Parts: sequence; C-alpha cells; structure tokens
Amino acid sequence: MFKVYVTRNIPKEGLELLKDKCDIEVNNLGRSLSKQELLEKIKNKDACITQLTDKVDIDFFEAAKNLKIIANYAVGFDNIDLNEATKRKIFVTNTPDVLTQATAELAWALLFACARGVPQADKFTREGNYKGWDLYLFLGLDISHKTLGIIGAGRIGQAFAKMSKGFDMNILYTANSKKIDFEAQTNAKFVDLETLLKESDFVSIHTPLTPQTYHLIGKKELSLMKKTAILINTSRGAVIDEKALAESLENRQIYAAGLDVYEKEPIIEEKLKTLDNVVLLPHIGSATYKTRIDMSILAAQNILDFLEGKIPRTLVNK
Ligand code: DGY
Repeated sequence: MFKVYVTRNIPKEGLELLKDKCDIEVNNLGRSLSKQELLEKIKNKDACITQLTDKVDIDFFEAAKNLKIIANYAVGFDNIDLNEATKRKIFVTNTPDVLTQATAELAWALLFACARGVPQADKFTREGNYKGWDLYLFLGLDISHKTLGIIGAGRIGQAFAKMSKGFDMNILYTANSKKIDFEAQTNAKFVDLETLLKESDFVSIHTPLTPQTYHLIGKKELSLMKKTAILINTSRGAVIDEKALAESLENRQIYAAGLDVYEKEPIIEEKLKTLDNVVLLPHIGSATYKTRIDMSILAAQNILDFLEGKIPRTLVNK
C-alpha cells in the first residue's frame, strides 16, 4: 500500500479521505518532530504531509528515497527546498484558497488591535485600572477613509483589500504585475514600493518569502513610512528585518506594528517584547476550526490526485 507519513495529527477529515488507499502513519506526540525523528520516520514513505515547521531540506530528501509527493499543510512552502524536490521529480503541493479569508481576517484583527490599542486596553481593564470613563483613555487612530498599502496582491492581499470596502479606503498595492480585475473591483492603484510606503497609513504584507522578498522591509524602507503608519505582517517573518523594525518602533518612527510571523520562529526579537506599540501573535493566520479542516482535506486531495495519475490540484513545482 502507498505509505503516507503525516508529521502532525491534522484534522481527521483529510485522513478519512486517504484511509482506504493508503497506509497512514501520524505523529500523535502533540508536538513537531525533531529533525532526527523526522528523518527516521520518513524512510520508506511514498508521501508526506508536512507542516511549515518541518524543514524539508537535502537531509530530508536523502532519508526519503521512496518519496513521490509532499503535501505541505500551508500555503507558504519556504520550508521546502523546492529546487531539490523538482530535481528529484517529487511533487510539492500547498493549501491555497482555503485559508485566504481566515488569514486576511487576522490581518484586520491586527490592524484594529494596533490602531485602537485593543490588547493594551484589555490588560489595563483586567488589572483593575478602569476607574470610569475618561476622555483621554486609549486614544487611537481612525481607519476609515485612510490609505491602505498592500505589499503582494495575491489571493490573501486582495482578500484583505476587499474587506476594506466598508471603510471607504484608498488602496495602493505592489505586486509582480498589475492586477486588472482587482483594480476594477477595488479602485486599487498599482505603485512602486517606495510610493506605497510613503503614502500609506497602513501597510499590510502578503508576499511569500523568496530570495527577492527576504528583508524587503528594512531600515531604509521603514524610514520612508509615516510616523502615524501601522505595519502588519501575516506572511513570513523574514520579509521584515526584525531588528530594524524593533528600532523603528522604539524610536516611534512608525506608530505601531502587528505581527503574526517572525524571522526565526519561535524566537522573537527580545526588544519587540518590551515595546507597547507592537501586537504579537503566535502565527495563527489560518487558525480557524473550519480552515484547518479544509487544509487537511486539500492536502489529502492532492495525494489522491497523484494516486489517480492526475496532476495534483495545487501543485507548486509545475
Ligand atoms: C501558511 O499556510 O503559510 C500560513 O502561514 C499558516 O498559518
């Protein structure tokens, strides 16, 4: 039987789809595997459902001599050496679309949290500091009628922008190419990064991590942003130079930042944790009950496609 290894116990809906056709082994330890454990488990497997914390590198491929397909349980696949997989004729798939709305919604949650000091106000209230309405308590920024800058207008970036409809915002975006339909739907304007950073009140990052986007936002880029600007990142941490961001926040060069992702997860730049103008979340962009089930189904469907001799539906190394 076709042997599948699942590096973490994903929702059962996907596994149910595979169970008649595959011999499935699941990591039920309730934690990610160490590199050594993973290399041991992957031997003799035909397929693997990986998560974004699994490093799929040359050692992995060397250990997994029978591997034919890797179904990554994430839309991002920077944890996988794609060139090496392609060289070895191993299919790599991801889970796009099903997590678009959830991730875009979380980016909005971060934007609201930063603009109105929601976590700080919650802490203040819980700690018994609320002594009655006060006209200067937690003043924040308006969101409506402001300029929203989208870095990377792919699925999630576009969904995030479309959600701004009720706030009547002016939308700027950067992308590899102009997105005609997106512009027609939102009146978004295609600009270069410098213009976007200078003119936006809120900048949200939705680009994948690639050699081209590594540290796309560093000291220089942060210095272009408005003092009242908020930076949101729900994509990959290393798109931002985290040290430069911490400095910029500490010096109040920008107003605030909302982060769901970090350069060296789970490590977070120490200075960031001491600042009151940053909201820090533990990489929960796609973490809704339904999305996690849908991701599990899509990962399994890709393996079934392969077994049926079809091109897996969300193949990334075409
Ligand atoms: C992804 O799928 O790439 C997300 O970062 C997971 O939350």
